[in-house]
Amino acid sequence: MNALHPDLSRIVVSADQIQTRVKELAGQISTDFSNGDQLYIVGILKGAFIFLADLTRQLTVPHAVDFMALSSYGKTTSSGAVRILMDLREPIEGKNVIIVEDIVDTGRTLEYLYRILKGRKPASLHSCVLVRKQRDNLNIPIEYLGFDIPDVWVVGYGLDFADKHRTLPYIAELKRD
Ligand code: IMP
Repeated sequence: MNALHPDLSRIVVSADQIQTRVKELAGQISTDFSNGDQLYIVGILKGAFIFLADLTRQLTVPHAVDFMALSSYGKTTSSGAVRILMDLREPIEGKNVIIVEDIVDTGRTLEYLYRILKGRKPASLHSCVLVRKQRDNLNIPIEYLGFDIPDVWVVGYGLDFADKHRTLPYIAELKRD
């Protein structure tokens, strides 16, 4: 096995655990939406692109993929405000929408997005989140959740620190200075 990168202190979710769980989540979604209606999968850039690529390739129901980009944190601290940097290409009115997000920390980003998308009158709106750091302060449901993890800064499998470590196959804790 390869040594851990010196920026990292430990693996929080292994590559095998991720792949198993992604398959399970895709199975759940495929079962829940097996009525034939096309799903509209909304990936949140940049962090969700790897999760979304693996998840959608395991879906056995018809689906379209679109992306949104939201303003995110600087380094490892929260700036608070959320803003749309890039919007969806199509209206979602009447569609079955699933938000695919890499991580929920305070929940501000997902709640903001949920509110915005709900206002566009989709037929249904669900959330699929790979990892959640805090579970107590979220006011919206996460129907499809990968893992609950400790409240530490993590990187890998799409998650970054200043755009580094996104392509690691596992999720690891970043060392503190
Ligand atoms: P929230 O709005 O506090 O839930 O934060 C969500 C956003 O913060 C995510 O979409 C990520 O961009 C970023 N984020 C929060 N925690 C981490 C982390 O541990 N690693 C990488 N990005 C994170």
